[in-house]
Amino acid sequence: MQTRVVPFTDASIAEAARLILDGQPVAVPTETVYGLAADATNAGAVARIYEAKGRPSFNPLIVHVPHITAAERIGDFRAEARALADEFWPGPLTLVVPLRANAGIASIVTAGLPTIGLRVPAHPAMQALLRAVGRPLAAPSANASGGISPTRAEHVLKSLNGRIPLIIDGGATPRGLESTIVAATGGALRLLRPGPLEIDAERDTAGNIEAPGQLASHYAPSKPVRLNATSSKRNEYLIGFGRIDGDANLSPSGDLIEAAARLFDLLHQADASQKPRIAVAPVPDEGLGQAINDRLRRAAA
Ligand code: TXA
Ligand code: MG
Repeated sequence: MQTRVVPFTDASIAEAARLILDGQPVAVPTETVYGLAADATNAGAVARIYEAKGRPSFNPLIVHVPHITAAERIGDFRAEARALADEFWPGPLTLVVPLRANAGIASIVTAGLPTIGLRVPAHPAMQALLRAVGRPLAAPSANASGGISPTRAEHVLKSLNGRIPLIIDGGATPRGLESTIVAATGGALRLLRPGPLEIDAERDTAGNIEAPGQLASHYAPSKPVRLNATSSKRNEYLIGFGRIDGDANLSPSGDLIEAAARLFDLLHQADASQKPRIAVAPVPDEGLGQAINDRLRRAAA
């Protein structure tokens, strides 16, 4: 794939919106760092973010929306969360709030969690893109896994060249630091990640998941999970992959993007089934398969 870098104009935003509606991830500046944005309602598109970043694990992603009204359709804002949103949005603040039922967000975005990180960015390029796409955009920082967050289009190009179709160049990002993350999920506000804003909330280290897999409350099924199953035993709900079919199949054709896109849905489905145990067919440990296997090992632990 060839990666093109284009200046921020009406035409480049229209092109980026077309690519995103077609299920591709596109790099775009925000006031904090460049984000790699994909349609948050399309699980396959979000799986492509992980594929492009080469990330060996899943992390819940921040969902960007153009205004508070759009955020309130997706998340459940109590008074304290709403007060922070009123004060700091649009801006470099991410609020983690309970996810509303039927919000239409793909489960891979929150990595199966019942909460969601929401942000109304101020940058004109990201604002224009959100309005052109008309859907919420999931966007982690636009760097390859393990790299430094990009504050210029050149940083994105160096990190993701050949892995994404388009980079919108809006110059250096004004803040240069990832957003402040505050959890407002009940009880006191918790600071999950310090950032450009000074906010009076207790620093929370248990819920801080900057390092891959650090999240204490990461979604795990309530039932025992057996991995590398080639067939189901009695009382097992088998999640198949490729030719190993089961009660459900991550991807009958063995496509890892499809499997990543369906993973959290099928884990929830298996958890909700009548059967007391879960088994999962082997998934090749390459590319996105590494992130899938990381999640499965945690589910089984
Ligand atoms: O400034 C930013 O926040 C940039 C721009 C692109 O918006 N984005 C960014 O995303 O830094 P990322 O994926 O690199 O970092 C997102 C952080 C991760 O530490 C993730 O675990 C946390 O947000 N996060 C997202 N949803 C969460 C949730 N439901 N609960 C707890 N933490 C969450
Ligand atoms: Mg990052």
